[in-house]
Amino acid sequence: MRISVIGCGYLGAVHAAAMAKLGHDVVGLDIDEAKVAELAAGRAPFYEPGLPELLTETVATGRLRFTTDPAEVVGARVHFVCVGTPQKRGEFAADLTYVDAAFAGLLPYLTAGDIVAGKSTVPVGTAERLALDLAPTGATLVWNPEFLREGFAVKDTLHPDRLVYGVPAGKPGEDAKAVLDEVYAVPLSENTPLVVTDYATAQLVKVAANSFLATKISFINAMAELCEATGADVTGLADAIGYDARIGRKFLNAGLGFGGGCLPKDIRAFMARAGELGVDQALSFLREVDSINMRRRVRMVDLVREVCHGSIVGRRIAVLGAAFKPNSDDVRDSPALSVAAQMQLQGAHVVVTDPQAINNARKRWPDLTFADTAEEAATGADAVLLATEWAEYRDLDPEKLALVVNEKRILDGRNVLDPAAWRAAGWTYRALGRR
Ligand code: UDX
Repeated sequence: MRISVIGCGYLGAVHAAAMAKLGHDVVGLDIDEAKVAELAAGRAPFYEPGLPELLTETVATGRLRFTTDPAEVVGARVHFVCVGTPQKRGEFAADLTYVDAAFAGLLPYLTAGDIVAGKSTVPVGTAERLALDLAPTGATLVWNPEFLREGFAVKDTLHPDRLVYGVPAGKPGEDAKAVLDEVYAVPLSENTPLVVTDYATAQLVKVAANSFLATKISFINAMAELCEATGADVTGLADAIGYDARIGRKFLNAGLGFGGGCLPKDIRAFMARAGELGVDQALSFLREVDSINMRRRVRMVDLVREVCHGSIVGRRIAVLGAAFKPNSDDVRDSPALSVAAQMQLQGAHVVVTDPQAINNARKRWPDLTFADTAEEAATGADAVLLATEWAEYRDLDPEKLALVVNEKRILDGRNVLDPAAWRAAGWTYRALGRR
């Protein structure tokens, strides 16, 4: 099937390549010429495991091309809208500028029978408004939210947990469903669960899922606060409650909390939308979820100060990790960078390292010092903070690292190190929610 993908950022680039892999004939459209040139050459403009290989393979088949010319979407049966919806400056609400521009740009090129599938995360009610704009063209709008995780984006797109179609009532909805079933024929043949629903539910599914995940993380981080006050251990607590199948152990890792381009802005936009709908009380708990999350960062700076005997001024602190999570070079709202920057502002000399995200981190916080390796960052350090749990930091040898630091103080911001091993090597080990 001929498909167009509008917006080739994280979501769109992966979606375009994955659709080509599924056998479709895909054109990716973006306004950024440099990005289009990179993608067209089969190179990923950001770090995502498996994407460079997928791009090279699919571009070589001739079934995947990229362009800045909107007229090239003509002839596609389905147009996926994958542009970003960042948080508005100074407000909680989502900024819909890019979504509105993408739809406005698409209108002149649509013909009757085309399907426009919205994938961007939008405030509930947006699809209903956009469907009215599309009506005169004879195209049908479907809301088809995306749940991919950075670091697993290729796998999540080719083998999703579930597919959700928000379709209009009656025949247009049935026809649109049939076309999407063809698009996703391969994952559907692998028995991927499919939920066919209305626009409002489809839009809510995405923000509800992200709110639940954020709540789960903040729940365990709230328990970490209790553990800190009582001498209990949050990791043992998470293991024990996680054995209850109704609770589950996933997303119960206490530490520096959530960041990235989705969870923080999505829960805020959801609260803003609930306010507009007159049901702000229903989501007031998300304010608490957000506060617990942000408090962890402050607590970590305090913990570093504590191990440095009350002051970090002039101390050299190594921060291992800048990305908001491992296997990503994304530093948007990164807890690691936020803590690093706070410590720097409070007078510490902070040296940050990351296997992939140094360039992005430097753009955002040019005043921080950057090192290429954990060993280089830790050289002469008065404390070492593991802030993003990349495998190479989890596997660090405490005996070896002890040789380069000034003081053997390790702070485990993600509760992934073995405290016994580090203590046995002479380190002072501290973590959030742990003795
Ligand atoms: C998230 C959703 O998982 C995905 O379905 C949606 O499409 C986009 O938002 P992503 O932002 O890639 O994906 O990251 P995710 O893996 O969900 O992690 C989010 C944050 O939570 C990271 O900062 C991570 O470090 C943190 N986290 C995760 C915890 O602090 N503890 C955990 O137990 C799990």
